[in-house]
Amino acid sequence: MKKSKRTKKSNTWKIKQHRDQFFKKSKVLGYRSRASFKLIEINKKFKFIQQNTKLLDLGSSPGGWSQVASEIITKGKILSIDLKDMKPIKNVKFTVGDIFENKIKDHISEFFVGKLDVVLSDMAADTTGNKSLDSIRTNHICTKVLNLSSQILKPKGVLVSKLFMGEDFIEVKNLAKSLYKEVNFFKPQASRNESKETYLHCKILKTL
Ligand SMILES: C[S@@+](CC[C@H](N)C(=O)[O-])C[C@H]1O[C@@H](n2cnc3c(N)ncnc32)[C@H](O)[C@@H]1O
Repeated sequence: MKKSKRTKKSNTWKIKQHRDQFFKKSKVLGYRSRASFKLIEINKKFKFIQQNTKLLDLGSSPGGWSQVASEIITKGKILSIDLKDMKPIKNVKFTVGDIFENKIKDHISEFFVGKLDVVLSDMAADTTGNKSLDSIRTNHICTKVLNLSSQILKPKGVLVSKLFMGEDFIEVKNLAKSLYKEVNFFKPQASRNESKETYLHCKILKTL
């Protein structure tokens, strides 16, 4: 076999192994998606989910992140929203809808009665096959989440949002820095190496 073919095969094998490792682990631990491990890692690094946290999980389906949040939050409140349905999770209120619709925003305010501690968004735009376009569309969602979070979070609140390391990354970073005092980027091990996906962690609104 030619060397380049062998290297390609070995890289595919490594990627497959990486995926399988988190997939198998999620089955063993009863998580609905391997994405659960991304939130576990992000929370291990930045420590923002506590027993009494009021948390909003945007783009929650099938529920991997909500499961992780519900294991920690026993005295707070969790609202999860997705365009797609999600099977029930103990202590999690789930609503189907587009999170950028006004009626969903009203629903968020009614549910929490006051401001929130944490907003999570693992939302991504549907893929088109054009990586550059997919990245722009997902980062557009991230921009909208940044603006929404600044309206509904407590002054010391935390936002975690998916974004892509694409051409418009710097614009998202600048918006985050204009709204929050602390802005970090973190790619969990559970996120595929070959994916441009990373996570934005923002803390403390600049209005404080
Ligand atoms: C990567 S999945 C989330 C996985 C989830 N964090 C988990 O752990 O199981 C992204 C989700 O975002 C949802 N989504 C995308 N745009 C949305 C929108 N505007 N409003 C609500 N949900 C949205 C999709 O339906 C999809 O289920």
